[in-house]
Amino acid sequence: MSSNQPKSSANRDSFASSLGILLAMTGSAVGLGNLWRFPYLVGENGGAAFIIVYLVCVIFICMPIMACEFIIGRRSQANAFGAYKKLGGNKGWKVAGLLSVLAAAFILSFYSVVGGWSIRYMLMSFGLRFTSGGGIQPESTFNTFVTGTWPPILYTLAFLLCTGVIIVAGVKNGIEKFTKTLMPVLFVLMVILAVRSMTLPGAGEGVRYLFKPDFSKFTASSAIAALGQAFFSLSLGCGTILTYASYVPRSENIFTCGAKTTILDTLFALIAGCAIMPAVFAYGISPGQGPGLVFVTLPAIFAELPAGGIAAILFFVSLFLAALTSAISLLEVVIAFLIEECKMRRAAAVAVSMSVFVVLAVLCSLSQGPLSHVKLFTLNIFDLFDYVSSNVLMTFGALLAVLFVGHKLSRADILDELSSGGLHPIPAGLFKTFYFIIRWAAPVVIIGILVAGLLG
Ligand code: PFF
Repeated sequence: MSSNQPKSSANRDSFASSLGILLAMTGSAVGLGNLWRFPYLVGENGGAAFIIVYLVCVIFICMPIMACEFIIGRRSQANAFGAYKKLGGNKGWKVAGLLSVLAAAFILSFYSVVGGWSIRYMLMSFGLRFTSGGGIQPESTFNTFVTGTWPPILYTLAFLLCTGVIIVAGVKNGIEKFTKTLMPVLFVLMVILAVRSMTLPGAGEGVRYLFKPDFSKFTASSAIAALGQAFFSLSLGCGTILTYASYVPRSENIFTCGAKTTILDTLFALIAGCAIMPAVFAYGISPGQGPGLVFVTLPAIFAELPAGGIAAILFFVSLFLAALTSAISLLEVVIAFLIEECKMRRAAAVAVSMSVFVVLAVLCSLSQGPLSHVKLFTLNIFDLFDYVSSNVLMTFGALLAVLFVGHKLSRADILDELSSGGLHPIPAGLFKTFYFIIRWAAPVVIIGILVAGLLG
């Protein structure tokens, strides 16, 4: 092991098993991004063409960035801010850590609101409201709910409470136990839904839409959306992968763990696409429904589908579980920061951060209705948090992570960490390609995307 290896911090909680690590990482990655955002972006950007560009972004840009976050986290054994402080050696790099913590906080604030919607829809599905006799008007039911004052706030708070309860239990006993049990359940539920959807009469057109590319509807902004979605879906640039990696023991193979996490996340997104698009086509609905796809279009389909009540339960339970396993990873970024940098106990850190998130999430919830007139640059509070975190903070966070690993850490240290001190050797050609991507290709693409995004 190289001499630059920092000492590991004593008394830190850590993951207990390889499977636990993989499922916790996958739990962070698989979330609303896969089940809610990916399908509607596919629908808005021309189907298979979007998926192909998405896959290219994932393989050539995002997988190497994920490896960088693994390297920083595992090598430093510290929270996002502490990691850059420990390895960076000068004050400037700490900004990267701070940006990551901020990005996680902003995302959790609006993510909890949609998480709250998923609880409400899950409870409605238990009451068989999405059946032909359920008596809902999908569009007006959704609009009345989200623009209200107290109901969406209460569901948002319920979601935050679930997140806090898991995080209080710690890394091994909270995050790992919880994700290890839930991720397999989520996978099974999603596969059942996909099979049901793909075997509907008329589903073939939806399957073709997902897998037969038509680049005529694909634009430059679709490419930006594909990369942005890949960042969001893989939880890059906001310190979650980095923080989770800091709990990974030195003997684990982080190179394959990062690759497997990426593959599983992409698989979940494709399965979600297969669960939604074929049903959308089978019922003759246009795929470009935007954000309402999951909360408006799907309930309308469930109401007509044979055994649609059961499909609705499976879908909204999945949505809730996926959102929860991602939200805990976002909260852990802030908690690890408070524990290690502000010397708080875990329970106190959860209490303090929760009080801030309650305020921010309530503002995001109210911005759908009573506070919808409060706008900055035409964006309401919810959209502003989404825009700033997804388009600015995450992208900068990811850029700084690759620049840090590619240009601040030495080649020997990178290889040492990635191969776990030589325990899990990396083929020379693969490492050379990886090193080129993180030093040059990834930064150039990210800067291009940032400029394009800011210009228009
Ligand atoms: N990857 C999550 C999703 O697809 O829903 C969202 C997310 C979680 C983004 C954690 C960023 C993050 F740090």
